[in-house]
Amino acid sequence: MVTPVRIGVLGATGPAGRGLAARLAASGHEVIIGSRSIERANAARDAITAKWPDLDLSIDAGDNGAAADGDAVVIATPWDAASVTAAAVAPQLRGKVVICMANALARIGNEFQPLVPPRGSVAGSVQAALPHSYLAAAMHHIPARELGDLSEPVESDVLVCSDHPSATELTSTLIDSMPDMRALDAGSLALAAPIEAFTAVLLQLNVRYSTRAAVTFTGITR
Ligand SMILES: NC(=O)c1ccc[n+]([C@@H]2O[C@H](COP(=O)([O-])OP(=O)(O)OC[C@H]3O[C@@H](n4cnc5c(N)ncnc54)[C@H](OP(=O)(O)O)[C@@H]3O)[C@@H](O)[C@H]2O)c1
Repeated sequence: MVTPVRIGVLGATGPAGRGLAARLAASGHEVIIGSRSIERANAARDAITAKWPDLDLSIDAGDNGAAADGDAVVIATPWDAASVTAAAVAPQLRGKVVICMANALARIGNEFQPLVPPRGSVAGSVQAALPHSYLAAAMHHIPARELGDLSEPVESDVLVCSDHPSATELTSTLIDSMPDMRALDAGSLALAAPIEAFTAVLLQLNVRYSTRAAVTFTGITR
């Protein structure tokens, strides 16, 4: 039985945030799609509800300020916009769990390569911009297309890291509420750097083997 959480998603007009918003709503949560533009947010919400007319999805839309009113907030912007976007709504995020799913990557020729953002990771730089929020890093490795395809569960482990046990706990509860996803506690926010960077490896494997690989770990029972 899912306990519904009201979740705002900043930058939810892109494939990743939109897919996650749809998936969370389909899992019983109330979602607020955020954007720099209310029109784009409304269009993203309408696209989701039109695509899944038989599902009773609870999705609101507004600017990123409206989405920051959620009880938990996801940052789904490009990596170099994450801190600035979060800082712009910092007063609303005070005391809340904020989940950063951004990866700092660059395509160099035919290869994806990880970049090193300030503080070593995108999540670290967002936590520095939000000293009164509880940052968790998660959801980096799940392809947007799978998230947004509500006809199939997403079978994947999802690594979660944070310096705040309450953030790890809420983020893991949200992940576990989505069918076939399993949250794994990967440690402190210091681990965000390798988790984010590993996304480059995953994308590279997808290109090399023409697939969309997911991450699952053997040997862990929970
Ligand atoms: N795509 C995936 O499969 C996937 C999977 C896991 C994680 N991620 C991560 O999730 C994040 C979002 O991915 P995405 O593919 O959805 O990205 P995206 O389409 O490039 O951007 C998402 C949204 O961010 C907003 N945005 C763009 N530039 C901005 C700026 N300068 N300032 C503030 N907001 C800005 C835009 O929304 P508005 O213009 O409406 O404000 C845009 O629709 C990335 O960091 C990515 O690494 C992606």
